[in-house]
Amino acid sequence: MDLKEYVTIVEDYPKEGIRFKDITTIMDKGEVYKYATDEIVKYAKEVGAEIIVGPEARGFIIGCPVAYALEVGFAPVRKPGKLPRETIAVEYDLEYGKDTLTIHKDAIKPGQRVLIVDDLLATGGTVEATVKLVEQLGGVVAGCAFLIELSYLNGRDRLKGYDVTALVQY
Ligand code: PRP
Repeated sequence: MDLKEYVTIVEDYPKEGIRFKDITTIMDKGEVYKYATDEIVKYAKEVGAEIIVGPEARGFIIGCPVAYALEVGFAPVRKPGKLPRETIAVEYDLEYGKDTLTIHKDAIKPGQRVLIVDDLLATGGTVEATVKLVEQLGGVVAGCAFLIELSYLNGRDRLKGYDVTALVQY
């Protein structure tokens, strides 16, 4: 299946000049959503993932079905104030300004092999912050899997030394 056929390009969203990659046209077709999930599940097995970590919100959409299929846990990475118990936080740079991501302190066991899953690798800021969170908890980043990679933004440069896969590339 060519997943790229099911990604909808939305011109000038969220602002002029941006060609937004809309994955809802993958998710709204059961067989396509399942195919994308199964491809990431295959990768997760190859790298020996023991838990899935995904940043909000679209990382949940891709990561949770992978965790379900593998019968492993899922740990959410969220914006500050969204997780109810004790968290650790990592600050990262945005195009304009900064943002912070958090994870529950007990979400990952030391030595646990973690697969980070998200819909999109763009600049790599989100995944880099997620890697830091996982490693601060003693987790081992077994790999990073994305539905889409915008390779012209060179997000992979921030992931040197880590195993990275993406199902669709632009
Ligand atoms: C998008 C996307 C990734 C991130 C990728 O999330 O889902 O998490 O941006 O960009 P980066 O590689 O440049 O960090 P967004 O912040 O739009 O949040 P959402 O998933 O809640 O819509």
